[in-house]
This record gives sequence, C-alpha cells and structure tokens, in this order.
Amino acid sequence: MRNGKWRPIPVLESPFAKTPIMRLSAQSGDRDLPFSPAFDNEIYVKRDDLIPFSFGGNKARKAACFYRDILEKQPDIVMTYGTSSSNHCRIIANMACAMGMPCHIISPEEESEDTRHFNRMLVERFGASVETVPVTMVHDTIERRKEAFAAEGKIPYFIQGGGHGNVGTLAHVLAWQEILKQEEETGIFFDRLFLASGTGATQGGLVAGKLLYGGDTKIKGISIARACPRGRDAVRESILDFLSQSKIGKQDLYTEECLDFDDHYILGGYGRYDDAVEETVRYMMDREGIPLDTTYTGKAFTGMLRFLSENGIRGERILFLHTGGTPLFFDNMTRRAK
Ligand SMILES: Cc1ncc(COP(=O)(O)O)c(C=O)c1O
Repeated sequence: MRNGKWRPIPVLESPFAKTPIMRLSAQSGDRDLPFSPAFDNEIYVKRDDLIPFSFGGNKARKAACFYRDILEKQPDIVMTYGTSSSNHCRIIANMACAMGMPCHIISPEEESEDTRHFNRMLVERFGASVETVPVTMVHDTIERRKEAFAAEGKIPYFIQGGGHGNVGTLAHVLAWQEILKQEEETGIFFDRLFLASGTGATQGGLVAGKLLYGGDTKIKGISIARACPRGRDAVRESILDFLSQSKIGKQDLYTEECLDFDDHYILGGYGRYDDAVEETVRYMMDREGIPLDTTYTGKAFTGMLRFLSENGIRGERILFLHTGGTPLFFDNMTRRAK
C-alpha cells in the first residue's frame, strides 16, 4: 500500500501518454460516405477511447484526476450517481475495485430496459453496490447515504454524476494542453474541434484550457441530450467554477463567444438516435476501424458531419475528440442482433 489504506493503480499514478490523433481515410468522392460534403475537410480523430484504463474515454481522464484526489484525502468509500449505461459509473467502480475500496452507486429507475448494458454488468462485476431509486429521490438518497456512512464513522468521497465538478474539468484543461503540444509537434493545427457534450465538464475543461493557455481552434460541443439554455448554462458553470477557484482567479477571461454548445442534433433527447447515426457508426467501424456508439460519440460525430455539410464548410482541418464509451458500441451490436 502507498501511504494509505488503498492499493495504488500504477497506470493512474502518472499522466497518461498522449493519445493518437489519426486522419480519417475517407475522401469526399467516396460514394457510400454519409454526409459526403463534410469530407471536403481533413477530418482527424483524437483517440481518447484508447486511454489505457477501463476502456478509456473522457471519464477515464477524469478518473485519473479523482484517483489522485482520493489518494490525498483517503476516504473510506467512493459514491457516485449514474444510469445503467453510464461510462462514468463503470470507470469509477473499476477504479474502486482495483484500489480495494468499496463503491456505492445510486442509480435512477429507468423506463425501459431493452438490453442489459455492458457498463452495468461491469459495475456489478467490480463489486459495487447499486441502489436504484425513482429519479425524483436521487438527491435525497445521496444526502441520506452520505449521512449514513458518516454515522458509521466512514468518510465518503462523493463524485457528481458524469464526474462533473472542478476535478473532472481539470482533466480536460490538461487534455487541451495535450492537443496544443500535439499541434506544435506535428505542425498540424486544427480550425475546429468537435466533441460530444453532456453534463458539461469535458467541454468546460477544453474551453477553460483555451482561455488559460491559448490556441486558435474553435471548440464546438455537440449536445447529446440537453437543449439550451440548460445545457449551455451547465458548460458555462463548469468553466466559471474552474476559473474562479482561488488558486486560479481568472474568471474575467470568460466571454460568451468562447462557448459554442450546439443543441440542433439532440434528436429528441438522451439515448435517442436516427438511421443516419446508425449508418455513421457502421461506416466508422467498417471503413475506419473506429468504434463509436449511438448515445455519445456516434451521435456527436454525425452531428458534426451534418453541421459541416449543412454550413458548406470545406478546406478546413477538423478534429473530433473521441470521448470513449466502447462498451456502448457492443450494446448497440447486441441490440441489433436481437
Ligand atoms: C463517451 C462519452 N462522451 C461524452 C460524454 C459527455 O461528457 P460530459 O458529461 O463531461 O459533457 C460522456 C458522458 O457521459 C460520455 O460517456
């Protein structure tokens, strides 16, 4: 054990190696490309799905920051919140399991379960306890659980759903710095960066990183669930919460123009998708070898292609941040096979 009661996880001890940025092979002339005018641009993908812990992704970047905070604070149990398809819950449960630390997950009741999600199967396999409650009871349940653990003399470490909050935002400030370094090293500078935006800390971290460390790339979050103003407000809050921490004190850097949160491609809300998303997911796996899913990355990638072709954008260098979620790719395959 390293200075405390929990086992260290070597891969989370130091920063991850930079994830690769790959140019897609698709050319605008390819007949079977979805939204082919979008490919009049050079499209690159930054493969954060290849981060080497628990199938990677933005939640693995965040988990690495939570890991360091946990080692410092030495709590007795980690608690978080999320649905049965949550990538965040999988990664936190995996981290806790690897550390030998108990993990408690509060989960909302879901209307229909047409498949068992691989993320939930993994959470259970990692030995986390899952408490399912009506969505209206989530907040009170979290508070009651924290009190109950405290009454047993245990210190809980609570992580907001999706890894929201300054620790999760920091992870993507660091990701922005990584992109800046990669641009310098390769001489390939991007005009625009697209990503799937949900609870806001991933986009918030990238934007805060740009405000703090510079760079010319325009950042556009493609909302996968929330409409404006709620979704945009959440990203703004992430940026301002991060910048206004006493050790940073740079909230004056924020301007409304730096925040582009696009809710045109939510297709009716969380988890909803259309044939074009399915077609794009299939194309990207079959022709580029890159797994996407219909809830986050495939939906956002399709939104990006739609945006580029609808707005006649061409001749630019475009970077898509692949935020992971590989188990959801397999959920999609299982569902299709039924
Ligand atoms: C694969 C994937 N991409 C993107 C997101 C959105 O991240 P954020 O909630 O930080 O906006 C999530 C959130 O669950 C995710 O799992």
